[in-house]
Amino acid sequence: MTTFRVGVIGAGSIAQSHLSAYAENADVELIAVADMNLERARAVADQYGAPRAYADPHELLADPEIDGVSICTWNNSHANWAIAAVKAGKHVLVEKPIARTLAEAEEIQRTVEASDRVVQVGFVRRHSPNCQVLKSFIDAGELGEVYYAKASCLRRVGNPGGWFADKEISGGGPLLDIGIHVLDLCWYLMGSPKVVSVSGNTYDKLGSRGNVTTMPRYKAADYDPSKNTVEDLANAVIRFENGASLLLDCSYSLHATKDSIEVSVYGEQGGAELEPALHIATEMHDSVVNIEPQIASRTFEFGVGFAHEIQNFVDTSLGRAESIAPAWHGVEIVRILEAIYESASTGREVELG
Ligand SMILES: NC(=O)c1ccc[n+]([C@@H]2O[C@H](COP(=O)([O-])OP(=O)(O)OC[C@H]3O[C@@H](n4cnc5c(N)ncnc54)[C@H](O)[C@@H]3O)[C@@H](O)[C@H]2O)c1
Repeated sequence: MTTFRVGVIGAGSIAQSHLSAYAENADVELIAVADMNLERARAVADQYGAPRAYADPHELLADPEIDGVSICTWNNSHANWAIAAVKAGKHVLVEKPIARTLAEAEEIQRTVEASDRVVQVGFVRRHSPNCQVLKSFIDAGELGEVYYAKASCLRRVGNPGGWFADKEISGGGPLLDIGIHVLDLCWYLMGSPKVVSVSGNTYDKLGSRGNVTTMPRYKAADYDPSKNTVEDLANAVIRFENGASLLLDCSYSLHATKDSIEVSVYGEQGGAELEPALHIATEMHDSVVNIEPQIASRTFEFGVGFAHEIQNFVDTSLGRAESIAPAWHGVEIVRILEAIYESASTGREVELG
């Protein structure tokens, strides 16, 4: 049996999900953790039994005993570390978004194309069994041609603050943080069609809602309610070359009566909701029929999603599978996100290639 030796760059919140999945994977040996906060890198390395900890990720990348890395740093360094890792001969699983900007994302893509290394983007929700079951139905033609999709992720009081709320570091607000997940699920299920135009809007009417102290919220470690340079809400209509269209909206701050998530795709022979839970609808013998695949969970479960994502990364790196989230998919999603911001700032539809 081949062992895949792993390093993790960035030892904050999401690194824990990567590390737990690596620690439970029989094919993997954890070698090192790096974080500019060395104390954090050491604590996390100890927690998961990795023998080495570094403050400088360059040192981790120079470690010849490492075959692949997860990049779990802030968005502003994804491109830098992904490119450096490939050049150091490592396979890469980089968290979403693959990069802050299209220019950075395309630089990663050029590096990937010039190498034989795997670069996978962290679209963890794709790996969830409910998504894979629906994908198998769609690939088998059960929904017919998918021509419409809806992607929505609305938080009422959900601006995490810290680096998430600093556009310079994050590249954007709810669009790059949570809208990206639901947009990506729809795009993936639609068969990764080529985008031709994007019309978007962003709003910053409510700010971080740091004044609301009566509702619990996830807060970044360096939360400061007075610091916020990202949008509250973004929406978009996205058109594809095959005539299909997608409606997207997402928010950190909104006067909605509840938080919500929705991912739905509609085709000529059937439709499906993936989020909040998998349900499929079709028509048989002039009757409307709901199809209920019998699976362990109809909803996305974080731990299961990460276990499958890590397995796909390991299998692809070891040459025994294909990645279901290759780098170019991450690039195409950033192309759409950047066009949404451009359309919002110009007040015009953006046409793409
Ligand atoms: N897939 C998901 O569902 C999901 C969920 C949350 C976050 N994320 C992504 O994961 C990434 C990290 O998010 P987080 O919530 O873990 O943030 P975090 O702030 O909790 O952790 C980031 C860690 O990276 C370190 N770091 C940042 N820049 C660095 C650099 N240049 N060199 C070395 N260390 C550096 C920080 O010190 C920190 O310990 C983001 O890109 C985010 O979009 C993905």
